[in-house]
Amino acid sequence: MPFFRRREPVPPKEAPRDEDLPELDESIDVDDATAPEEELDAQALDGSWTRRSADVIPGGASTGSKQAAALYGDDHEVGPTHFSRASGCVMSTPADTQIVDCTMALGSVAIGYADESVTRAVMMAAAAGNVAGFSHTSEVEVAERLCEVIPCAEQVRFLKSGAEAVTAAVRIARTATSRPRVVACGYFGWHDWSNSGAGIPDSAHHETQFVPFDDVPALERACRAAGQNLAAVILEPVIERLPSEAWIAAARRLCDELGAVLIFDEIKTGFRVRTGGYQEYSGVTPDLATFGKAMANGYPIAAVVGLTPIMDAASLTWISSTLAGEATALAAVGAVLDRHAQEKVCDELWSIGKQMRESVERAVSASGAEGVTVDGIDPMWLIRFDDATRQRRFLELAVGEGVLFKRGAYNFSALAHGDEEVIVEIERAASSAFVTLTEESEA
Ligand SMILES: Cc1ncc(COP(=O)(O)O)c(C=O)c1O
Repeated sequence: MPFFRRREPVPPKEAPRDEDLPELDESIDVDDATAPEEELDAQALDGSWTRRSADVIPGGASTGSKQAAALYGDDHEVGPTHFSRASGCVMSTPADTQIVDCTMALGSVAIGYADESVTRAVMMAAAAGNVAGFSHTSEVEVAERLCEVIPCAEQVRFLKSGAEAVTAAVRIARTATSRPRVVACGYFGWHDWSNSGAGIPDSAHHETQFVPFDDVPALERACRAAGQNLAAVILEPVIERLPSEAWIAAARRLCDELGAVLIFDEIKTGFRVRTGGYQEYSGVTPDLATFGKAMANGYPIAAVVGLTPIMDAASLTWISSTLAGEATALAAVGAVLDRHAQEKVCDELWSIGKQMRESVERAVSASGAEGVTVDGIDPMWLIRFDDATRQRRFLELAVGEGVLFKRGAYNFSALAHGDEEVIVEIERAASSAFVTLTEESEA
């Protein structure tokens, strides 16, 4: 007699139908959540959220780049810091000020905020049960689909953030090679192995050596110094510009020669430069790669992907996260993959990004503003200032004109910036801000 009774199988529930789901737009009343307790003017109301956040959240925001000081270069009330709705490329503040967003949530959204196809897929997944004691079938399906579009992907492990995925890639490389040392170039998130500073013991990162971007001799020296201890070379392949072919080729050659794992961190470049990332663009295939951000149009998921003989090492070490395979973010990836299959999303991101940066370049030259340059590549471009005070003032003026530009880092194109009026609006706001900035400097 078995110790449990066999039950009649429960008939599977039908998947939710479209008509069972709430309407996307009208269903959620955000006004209640943001209603001011007292009548405040728009600026004061938006500023009240900046102050409230500073009281209850260290730094004012859980994402470093969204803290007031990171947004504006000053943690005083320079401009709004919180949104209550976002749609396309436009954020609405609690005071209902509309702001065109050129930062696109640090590049995590490349289609648009609240995109209908992505939102619907996520809602369907939530309604069907987000997690259970088994893994969801979509984990397998999305992994299979990623293997079709990413050159190095034969196997996939999902995680929740870019930093987790990159840390997992390094762990896999160390396990596969039984070696400790890592040569690195780029930003890989907040985890100990790739950072130094307060709260991080030196021992946490003493096996990581950073090298400058696109510097072949420095890369060669670091790899040779590590020699038979070299587990991996991990590169962010695009940092403000495309790398030279020589640098990428040297990384591939040195890894092959020394028996190390080549990892591309494609958290920013994946589903943006090309669907399959920089490796698809360049034709150079790494052994492992990490993807996140635009892959899920704003939902929390990242992936480490790679060649089977190396990915196999993921089972020899411990890499696991309770919600790694939850269905809503996987559904978002599925919807993004559908868009990439149906449309030339990345070509559009290059072309729209070019229009965005050219509109700002025109604003710079028309205003005669000095000490300002527009850099980067078209889908990830940045405005560089010689002077931090002028930068702070520009950002304040531009947001007052209804456009948020990223301070000291990338602006990211999205399909949602593709309307001509959006480009005109970006140019108008930038021009007005640069003209005022120039007048103030001359006064
Ligand atoms: C290249 C790269 N790797 C890793 C990360 C970390 O990702 P996350 O912030 O999702 O942990 C980032 C974030 O900006 C990134 O740009």
